Amino acid sequence: MPVQAKIGPSILNADLSNLANESQKLLDNGADYLHLDVMDGNFVPNLTFGHPMVKSLRNKIKTAFFETHMMVQNPEQWIEPMADAGVNLYTFHTEPVDDVAKVSRQVQEAGMKVGLAIKPGTDVKDIEKYIDLADVVLVMTVEPGFGGQSFMADMMPKVEWLRENYPNLDIEVDGGVGPKTIECCAKSGANMIVSGTAVVGASDQGQVIRQLRDVVQSYLK
Ligand code: DX5
Ligand code: ZN
Repeated sequence: MPVQAKIGPSILNADLSNLANESQKLLDNGADYLHLDVMDGNFVPNLTFGHPMVKSLRNKIKTAFFETHMMVQNPEQWIEPMADAGVNLYTFHTEPVDDVAKVSRQVQEAGMKVGLAIKPGTDVKDIEKYIDLADVVLVMTVEPGFGGQSFMADMMPKVEWLRENYPNLDIEVDGGVGPKTIECCAKSGANMIVSGTAVVGASDQGQVIRQLRDVVQSYLK
């Protein structure tokens, strides 16, 4: 089945004390899914939230597709709690993981889709042997840890290589993506677009989300 354009706002730079309302607003404005950034203060030098918060959000928002972007040292540890919290796609960084195949299987067995994420310094070939186990590959376009950083266009060869070799794979980009950088991502073959500050801070979120989706769609055959 051909891939589809999907826009998943990152709520990292939203008002987290008002997460349910901020999330609902993004969904009402046309978001296809929510990208929830989980940081453990260890894999990345920042701390956000964990499964209790995701579960509370799920209680308020019953049907939306939730992705958790697990920027954590030990992703194995949070599989069960995140599945229980109602997560649909569990995207974890492969860098600190010894047995990526095993963790991927555990995610699947817990009833979630598998996302494999790589930092800017990680070669996409390092995860080549695991791609068949993945539903999504996330190519980071900033160093993970903070919202509002500048997009790294030099990550696009990874996206191009993935699209060339895996025409039906969901390829996600995250970090500094917005109206100014979407063309570059779309042209390279990304179809799942995470956008934080560019969407959350927009005066017309719906307009930005539509614009991002239209550009991606225009490059999908
Ligand atoms: C960075 C996070 C991103 C980030 C995106 O570590 O993984 O999801 O919040 O935000 P922007 O779009 O502002 O770079
Ligand atoms: Zn993220």
